[in-house]
Amino acid sequence: MRFASFVRPLGVAFAFLIGLTIAGAGLQAADALGPEKCEKCHKPEIAVWQGTKHAKSFKTAHKSDKAKAILKAVGEKRMRRASLCQTCHYTVIGGKAKEGPSCESCHGAASGWFEIHNNYGEGVKREDEPADHKAKRIADSTAAGMIWPSMTYDVAANCMSCHGMTQAGLDGGTIAKMIDAGHPINPGFELVTYSQGSVKHRFYPPDVKTNADMTPAELSRFFIAGHAASIVAATEALKKSDHPKYVEAQNARIAAAKAALDAIKGSVPEAGTLAGSPSEANARKLVSAIAGKDLSGAVGGMLPAKGSYK
Ligand code: HEC
Ligand code: HEC
Ligand code: HEC
Ligand code: HEC
Repeated sequence: MRFASFVRPLGVAFAFLIGLTIAGAGLQAADALGPEKCEKCHKPEIAVWQGTKHAKSFKTAHKSDKAKAILKAVGEKRMRRASLCQTCHYTVIGGKAKEGPSCESCHGAASGWFEIHNNYGEGVKREDEPADHKAKRIADSTAAGMIWPSMTYDVAANCMSCHGMTQAGLDGGTIAKMIDAGHPINPGFELVTYSQGSVKHRFYPPDVKTNADMTPAELSRFFIAGHAASIVAATEALKKSDHPKYVEAQNARIAAAKAALDAIKGSVPEAGTLAGSPSEANARKLVSAIAGKDLSGAVGGMLPAKGSYK
């Protein structure tokens, strides 16, 4: 798991504890700025996000009886104020929950990369940016914690840290209390299904007005990248807790991932390696190996139907 993807939601104390490790990896702990900071330049993406459960749940999640039961089980009173819940349910600024999960929950807390991610150089337009400037801009903003859409493995692993309940700071005892009080674990979280419905924002050039669908080839790669992140997260998660429901959910993820990897291992040997030995390094090798490939022939039948997108 990339540090940037979980430093964001964790409390300051934990960020301090792993500070040395972060410095060693050349990454910085970053703070979220909030989606309104992105609005000026990313209006279509904001409009999509406002229609999602991520955004809407801010006003509703804490009010349900289920939320109250879970809070009671872990000895907390207020969902928006409990750092445990803040980790996954909110965009936290200065210790306060300001929104539900938002832009920076998926693209990385922006305090370190906000000024550089679209700075093409003094007076230089995007299309005229020199190649070396672009490479440095991307490298610098990545080091500062930005998760670019092109970093498919990191994007997918980051979804799993919340949706797989595999977050680094979450211990087995807490997981068991939450699950027993009714917290969902959703073993059916699959990247294509969950990213190409309400959450989808793909206003790519040249047609920046259209929220474009993925091509079958893109869908097939995203499907595999999602399962690669899922098998790694689920395998790690099994070390955390032996709660039967948690174990069942993680084993279901592993089984689904193995079926997907099996379907392509004939043409992509990295898939077989990952299935046999699930590790982040093997998953990254697989995701690099499938770049540009059309796997829709091999995984076509497994791709979720459009009507099932969340
Ligand atoms: C001053 C304008 C500006 C602000 C403010 C801004 N961005 Fe951007 N951003 C851009 C431009 C221009 C691009 C490149 C064009 C594009 O892909 O939309 C870009 C690209 C991106 C990309 C990568 C797109 C790709 O194709 O790889 C992401 C992700 C992103 N921005 C997220 C954010 C987030 C999150 C915020 C708020 C924290 C933010 N931006 C604030 C102007 C801005
Ligand atoms: C590891 C991340 C994580 C933590 C920590 C976490 N949640 Fe959740 N929670 C989720 C995710 C993800 C979902 C949505 C599950 C899905 O449908 O995929 C969710 C769903 C819920 C729901 C159901 C919402 C609905 O619409 O039915 C409630 C209630 C809830 N969480 C309460 C809490 C409370 C209270 C806390 C703190 C004690 C908490 N959660 C901590 C990730 C987390
Ligand atoms: C749930 C995670 C998630 C959230 C929340 C999210 N993004 Fe993204 N974003 C992605 C993914 C994944 C992609 C890659 C596109 C795809 O594969 O669907 C992406 C792509 C992008 C792109 C490139 C495509 C485009 O539309 O130009 C930009 C820019 C961007 N996001 C900005 C934002 C901004 C601004 C916000 C907040 C309003 C935001 N994102 C919220 C996950 C997210
Ligand atoms: C910071 C934690 C976090 C991250 C990262 C995250 N989510 Fe979520 N997501 C949540 C929570 C919490 C909910 C449940 C909100 C509620 O119902 O109260 C949720 C709900 C959703 C829903 C609505 C599900 C439904 O049943 O309607 C979709 C779709 C979704 N997320 C997709 C994604 C995708 C795709 C990614 C990665 C690209 C992602 N999320 C990353 C926390 C997160």
